Amino acid sequence: MRYRAVPSLNKSISVLGFGCSAVMGRTGRADSLRAMHQAFDAGINFFDVARSYGGGEAETVLGEFIRDRRNNVVICTKFGILPVQRSGWKAALLPVARKAVQAFPALRKPARKAAGTQFVAGQFSIGVLRSSLETSLRKLHVDAVDILLLHAAPPSAIQQDDLLAELEKMRAEGKIKVAGISGPGETLRAYAQSPPSVLTHGQFACNVFDPALMQIASAFDPSRISLVANHAFGGPHGVAETQRRIEALRERADVSSELKAKLIAGGPLLMPEIILRALTQSGAIASVIVSMMSPSNLRSNLHAIEADRFTENEISLLGAALGLH
Ligand SMILES: NC(=O)c1ccc[n+]([C@@H]2O[C@H](COP(=O)([O-])OP(=O)(O)OC[C@H]3O[C@@H](n4cnc5c(N)ncnc54)[C@H](OP(=O)(O)O)[C@@H]3O)[C@@H](O)[C@H]2O)c1
Repeated sequence: MRYRAVPSLNKSISVLGFGCSAVMGRTGRADSLRAMHQAFDAGINFFDVARSYGGGEAETVLGEFIRDRRNNVVICTKFGILPVQRSGWKAALLPVARKAVQAFPALRKPARKAAGTQFVAGQFSIGVLRSSLETSLRKLHVDAVDILLLHAAPPSAIQQDDLLAELEKMRAEGKIKVAGISGPGETLRAYAQSPPSVLTHGQFACNVFDPALMQIASAFDPSRISLVANHAFGGPHGVAETQRRIEALRERADVSSELKAKLIAGGPLLMPEIILRALTQSGAIASVIVSMMSPSNLRSNLHAIEADRFTENEISLLGAALGLH
């Protein structure tokens, strides 16, 4: 595993990060813990979670996992989206619903719709910040979180001086080590134009559908601000289209026959190798956070991040052909 320094944290994070958005949602506790163990044992030390993930319970499972390894992991969590407590029959039925979705993938869409009603977004008041962080610390069983992000923040959050001052205060209190921001493309552009001094970490989507982070990353000062990419394969619903676009590269006239042969050889590493290497090669993006709850996907991504089937020039060419550069 390779690691990159996060200057404001004075620590290094693995170039492949472990995303916890599926924990206690589409993946139950035992499978989530198994995936976390497998990732950690392979050298992944960067775990991304949020107050809202898993109906508020993803942090509980991550907290259980890191209990004996606190000093060897970097934890990023977020505030701004509040989970709606699952209780009674809804909570009891969740494991059954999970199994049903696994057996009948057509149920995924209604399950996603139901999950969407289980949180309230856009909560950036000081009161929510304080209470959300206290809950995160309790669920994670830690005294401080390494990185706390505004979750799905609108561009206006960057000008919310009272909120930024509160984050600064929490840093001084030692409850967070680094503050940062995540959000849609407009937020990324506003952040690149005038990053507030307290927000020294940015996490944004970057994939073949939305490559803005890759294109704007060089505008940031890497000695001050670290950048992380999420949603690299376009999420569970973008994987097939990302794979299709990679397969279509074989037909391009500007791809050499040697490179075409490597693309035709394909295999499960093809998509992660091209995407993960294209996003991390220049170093402007420190790490890519991926949801990889199934053992085979986790294994593929671990191999892909170390793979050398493609040269750096080939990865640059393929990245450009996919619209990433
Ligand atoms: N800050 C934010 O607002 C924000 C927004 C989105 C995401 N995130 C973070 O980023 C993480 C990743 O985002 P995401 O889950 O939306 O998107 P993603 O990582 O692009 O996609 C995850 C999907 O890809 C599958 N997958 C993983 N590796 C694969 C491989 N080698 N081959 C084929 N399929 C593969 C996963 O399957 P399995 O899981 O079944 O293995 C899952 O269905 C989240 O967990 C979260 O931590 C943050």
